[in-house]
Amino acid sequence: MAKTVPPSPQADTANAEPTRPDPVEVLRERRAKAQLGGGPARIEAQHKKGKYTARERIELLLDPGSFVEMDPYVRSQATDFGMDRNRFDGDGVVTGHGTIHGQVVFVYAQDFTVLGGSLGFQTGQKIAKVLDQAMAIGAPVIGFNDSGGARIQEGVASLAGYGDIFFRNVKASGVVPQISVIVGPSAGGAVYSPALTDFIIMTDDTSHMFVTGPDVVKTVTGEEASQEELGGSSVHTVKSGVASFSGVDEDDTMNLIRKLLSYIPANNLADLPIKQDSGDERGRMDPELDSLVPANPNKPYDVREVVKRVVDTDSFFEIQPKWAQNLVVGFSRLDGVPVGIVANQPASLAGALDIEASIKGAKFIRFCDAFNIPIVSFVDVPGFLPGLGQEHGGIIRNGAKLLYAYCEATVPKLSVVLRKSYGGAYIVMSSKHVGSDVNLAWPGTEIAVMGGSGAVEILHRRELMKLAETDPAAAEARKAEFTAEYEQKFANPYVAAERGWIDDVIEPRETRPRLIAALLPLLQKREQRPAKKHGLTPL
Ligand code: HXC
Repeated sequence: MAKTVPPSPQADTANAEPTRPDPVEVLRERRAKAQLGGGPARIEAQHKKGKYTARERIELLLDPGSFVEMDPYVRSQATDFGMDRNRFDGDGVVTGHGTIHGQVVFVYAQDFTVLGGSLGFQTGQKIAKVLDQAMAIGAPVIGFNDSGGARIQEGVASLAGYGDIFFRNVKASGVVPQISVIVGPSAGGAVYSPALTDFIIMTDDTSHMFVTGPDVVKTVTGEEASQEELGGSSVHTVKSGVASFSGVDEDDTMNLIRKLLSYIPANNLADLPIKQDSGDERGRMDPELDSLVPANPNKPYDVREVVKRVVDTDSFFEIQPKWAQNLVVGFSRLDGVPVGIVANQPASLAGALDIEASIKGAKFIRFCDAFNIPIVSFVDVPGFLPGLGQEHGGIIRNGAKLLYAYCEATVPKLSVVLRKSYGGAYIVMSSKHVGSDVNLAWPGTEIAVMGGSGAVEILHRRELMKLAETDPAAAEARKAEFTAEYEQKFANPYVAAERGWIDDVIEPRETRPRLIAALLPLLQKREQRPAKKHGLTPL
């Protein structure tokens, strides 16, 4: 109970005003109660599930002592369905700002201990205020999602709360980085705020995202699935591509968020977070690179080994590492400068571009372009993946997303062709023709419409078939001759280099110093395109 203010000794006690509680004590009591959210029992239940509370999450994420809370006393104005007895200070979300690595960030964390973290109208207004202020200041937004969705008792008002958030997510898109962290349920239309943001980070076992839950799915389609099978991290990091990555537990998730932010500028006009002392030699040559990639264009290898040997030590941070593995994307640093890496992965689907890889690459490239992060592409691509599944799934429409993204990006674009680059995929993968600034190639590179054997089968099919009818061995020998002739002519980087479409052919070991030498002047690049309301990205 708050202490009361004692009457002054001089006061005429007969006419004394009624005593009132000490306002500072009232504030302290209210503050302490607000800190407990839905109360100790619900906090304990949250901990038993292996989850932190909203406040604990914010404390763990931000630099110690940097959190400044906003709107701690906002509460629901609803009175129906028992809400008059069920209103909590803070209304189920903790909001404010603080710092990470000393840089200002805005945060909100849904508080599952208050009405299951459900989102009422005021909850929505608090999150909307965070987004408004982050946009005004130019700071990233990190939102923890742990909620039963729209607060049922508030009806359409809670939907209005969501709508106000969605509108601002879109307004802020490309202005400030937005990161959604899923640390509990995220169900129904509530998944669409995360989906509108730049990165979705889940936590294994405890986070779930779905538009309709297991019960509705069973009623409508007859399919039976647990929450995990329907929308756990193993679904969204591996199968759907909805999530960027996941932490093994919440502590790991916090580390991943902080690491991600270390590569990203605070807003679309801010300087890149360049690490002044990268601790890494600018001119480091790596002789291992000379033999790392097999000469046989059909032999797989892990392109991440090449990337890691070129970039600053331990700086490669992969995004969506388990989905669409035929294209590797992630952030890294070259001489301390943050760069976005896009690399074909010969160890998966021979590195061919398919629907998922195209979508993955396009999203990543568009993020880098929006926030002025240079893009470095490592190219070893046999082409677009053939097949009925791909054609019927819309590889034309989806492959165009990657093409569009590369063409649209005006940030510095650099590429290194490692081994082969064929057909449409050659054009797409940061070729000179889609506006790449610096294109390098290793000496064993093949750049052509297609590989030798495929080309010969098309160009000399009739002749070879005719010969095979009478003398199959001679046909094979002839085919080998044609292939050798084709490879002699096309299977090298010099045809493109002679036209200026490859700026230089380099030794593999030189890749790091050559990329850095190309990148540093490009940091001053400014490119204007025709003014328009917006382009029409293929969707
Ligand atoms: C009000 C809610 C709530 C909600 C949960 N609670 N969801 N209150 N509105 N949407 C309350 C519960 O009544 C309970 O209160 C407390 O939160 C904790 O919930 P539990 O069910 O006990 O927790 P748990 O067993 O962990 O289950 C969590 C859950 C489940 C899976 C999230 O609560 C659930 O299925 N909730 C409903 C999900 C849903 O259908 N939401 C609407 C989606 S549609 P008490 O007082 O009993 O402890 C939607 C539209 C958005 O969101 C549209 C945007 C465009």
